[in-house]
Amino acid sequence: MITIKSEAEIKLMRVSGKVVGQALLELGAKVKPGITTQELDRVAYDFFKKNDCVPAFLGYHGYPATICTSINAEVVHGIPGKRVLEEGDIVGVDIGAYYKGYCGDSARTFAVGKVSAEAKKLLEVTFEALNKGIEQCRIGNRISDIGHAVQKYAESKGFSVVRDYVGHGIGRAMHEDPQVPNYGKPHQGPRIVEGMCLALEPMVNIGTEEVKVLQDGWTVVTKDGKFSAHFEDTIAVLADGPENLTRVS
Ligand code: MF3
Ligand code: CO
Repeated sequence: MITIKSEAEIKLMRVSGKVVGQALLELGAKVKPGITTQELDRVAYDFFKKNDCVPAFLGYHGYPATICTSINAEVVHGIPGKRVLEEGDIVGVDIGAYYKGYCGDSARTFAVGKVSAEAKKLLEVTFEALNKGIEQCRIGNRISDIGHAVQKYAESKGFSVVRDYVGHGIGRAMHEDPQVPNYGKPHQGPRIVEGMCLALEPMVNIGTEEVKVLQDGWTVVTKDGKFSAHFEDTIAVLADGPENLTRVS
């Protein structure tokens, strides 16, 4: 069931969205060669506590951390640990939190020091693909217009989009209806109406779109070992267009 949020609910979504966005800014500033992913996790945990927010991922289906950190060929759901980030890596940082029962969910993929030209292009194209999707979050469009725009842009730049994981409605639960794929034909699926809140999250690969889950039961990686990037924002559909709840800069 797709839930439509009232103005009062969207006010609360703005707060969780802003905290999540600010946490990502802080995390991005800490991403440098030498830091471990578990140090980043701790920063996010402390930031949420300080801002009266409850981590959304911790304990979700048994997930053991506050954030997901997905390095290089890892697509999503990498678990923070002792791994040290190195120059030339890219790291996807995915975070979510509840404020007064309303969820914000966002991700950015950061370059660790200097990265290859190809990796840099992957980051730019994935971020822009997210923006193309957000632009479609308008009353009168349909859900598949989002994925169509994402896919068209990413593929026009020579990259592929992951099919096995999708964006989602968001509100009192992190994952609500509808599913929001990052691919597909235009003008299909539910109509986009005022008060919908959606988390758009393209995962874009340099090589094959095919992915698999590692033995830990969480970490999703590309089948060919080539790099993948992930960007996500939580969007509210308003009368005059999309409002990005998690983008703070
Ligand atoms: N941000 C992810 C999503 O949008 C959720 C992470 S999965 C979790 O679906 F298990 F870590 F919570
Ligand atoms: Co999400």
